[in-house]
Formats: sequence, C-alpha cells, structure tokens
Amino acid sequence: MIYNLGSINIDHIYRVPHFPAPGETLLSDSYSKGLGGKGANQSIAIVRAGGQVVHIGAIGDDTLWTRDMLADAGVDVSGIAVLESATGHAIINVDAKGENNIILFDGANVLVSEGQISAALVSAKAGDWLLLQNEVNNGPFAAKLARAKGLKVAYVAAPFEATKVKDMLPFVDLLSVNEGEAAMVCEALGVFEDEIPVEKLLITRGSGRIAYRDGANRYTQPVFKVEPVDTTGAGDTFMGYFLAQLDAGKAPQEALRMAAAAAALKVTKKGTAEAIPLMEDVAGFIRSSPPKSF
Ligand code: RIB
Repeated sequence: MIYNLGSINIDHIYRVPHFPAPGETLLSDSYSKGLGGKGANQSIAIVRAGGQVVHIGAIGDDTLWTRDMLADAGVDVSGIAVLESATGHAIINVDAKGENNIILFDGANVLVSEGQISAALVSAKAGDWLLLQNEVNNGPFAAKLARAKGLKVAYVAAPFEATKVKDMLPFVDLLSVNEGEAAMVCEALGVFEDEIPVEKLLITRGSGRIAYRDGANRYTQPVFKVEPVDTTGAGDTFMGYFLAQLDAGKAPQEALRMAAAAAALKVTKKGTAEAIPLMEDVAGFIRSSPPKSF
C-alpha cells in the first residue's frame, strides 16, 4: 500500500507559440482546465500502474470534482480534507515543443493538519510506502511518523528547495531529484553525489536518462524516444509507476523500464492527470518501442 501526502491542483493549461517575455502580452492558442498537482498526478499514476494508494491532502469545498476524479480513478480519497479555502491551482504554459513553465498557487495544499496525517496513517503497516513532494505542508512530520511505524519514505524534492531537502533527508529511504538538484543537495550537505545519505537515489540526467542506486546496486534506464506534445506531469507519471512497481515487489530494472515507458507515453498526450497512461497501453508501448540506447 502507498500513502501519498500530495498536492491537488486545478491545472489551467495554455498552449502558447512561445513563452511570454517580460512585459509581453501573449494570445494563447488554446486553453483547457483539468485535475493536476504533483501529488494527484502521482496517485493517478499509481492506480493506473495497478497499485493501491491512499491520498492525503486538502481541497476547497467548491471543487469537489477534484476529489471525485481521484475516487473515480480508483484512488482511496478518505485522507483528503475539504476545507473552507481555495483549492490549489497551477497556471501552465506549454510551448510548441511541449515544454512548460508553471506558476503555482498553493491554497488548501498547505493546510493539511498533523491530526489529519496521523488519522490517515492509522492503518498503515510496516513495509508500506509514504510518498511526499514539496507542494504540501507537514512533510517532515509525516515522514517522521511513517518511519516510526516502519514505512518506507519516498520523497520527490520538487519544487526544489535545498533547505527542505536537508530537513527531510534523515527520514527518507528513496530520494528523487534531477541532475541540477542533485548538485545543489551535494553543495548543501558538502558531499559527493555518491555520498548523498539515502538508501535509494533516483536521478534524472539531462538527457532524460535515469540513474538509480539502491544500496550497492546501480541501474541505468535509457529514455524511450517520442515526439513530445506536452511534458507536464511526466515526472509524476514516472514516480507513480516506479513506486507502484516497487511496492508490488518488482525488480528495480523492471520498475524503471515500466516507469520510463509510462512517462514517455504521457509526453505524447496533452494534459496532466487525465493524460497519464493505463498499464495496458504502457505494456503495448514497451513491446512496440525499443528504448534509445546510450
Ligand atoms: O508536475 C506537474 C504538476 O505540477 C502540475 O499538474 C501542476 O499542478 C504542478 O503541481
């Protein structure tokens, strides 16, 4: 079982010919609205990968559709609080190459209480996973509690802040960062990459290639080559698929391959949560698309 203390956002997505320059007013090519948030995307990815997840988070009382979408997808939403606050949202610009930039409003995402987290973890068992990122509050509290109950803690350090990572690391089993973030962690801790003090370290290299260390074992996962349409949520898709596979007892190399394929498939579709692929499509994609080799 995976417990995911994670953000739930309303994504406002604008397709733009290019990213606006300072002072520029830019007409978008299209607009759409949907479910997003790194946490919600990860939870959807976990269930689409065949996993089980209890989502812990908070939304406002005027956007219950966000919770309904998670529930309809198969996510256990019993840990989601409905508060008198605005649901978090994201303004997402996607350019012609499928790249994005994102402005966040945190809203209810940072109003998750310690009592709510404790209640959601009451039935958690040793060996379960707690998944965290930086779009919600009380991450260190949740990680500490989870560790005390014998859970393993996976932490995606995004949006990145070195001080948050430093505070969280003593309670983390699996850290996920990109190459630039890994360098900042090293600088903050005064260590080399190999010495970052976690048992499992997942690093997305510049090319998209994944490097994974689990204890003394090292793995590399090449990228699957696709024509990008929208990269938003690709990292969330990867993490959800990866953790669901690990939780199901799959070997790291198999979990990495499945996660990389799911992320690649996501990139070929517009949108965030609703564009996260189903397991059967990922399996078909792997059969038909050999990964690019390095
Ligand atoms: O990782 C993509 C997500 O980041 C978006 O869905 C947006 O809501 C932000 O949380």
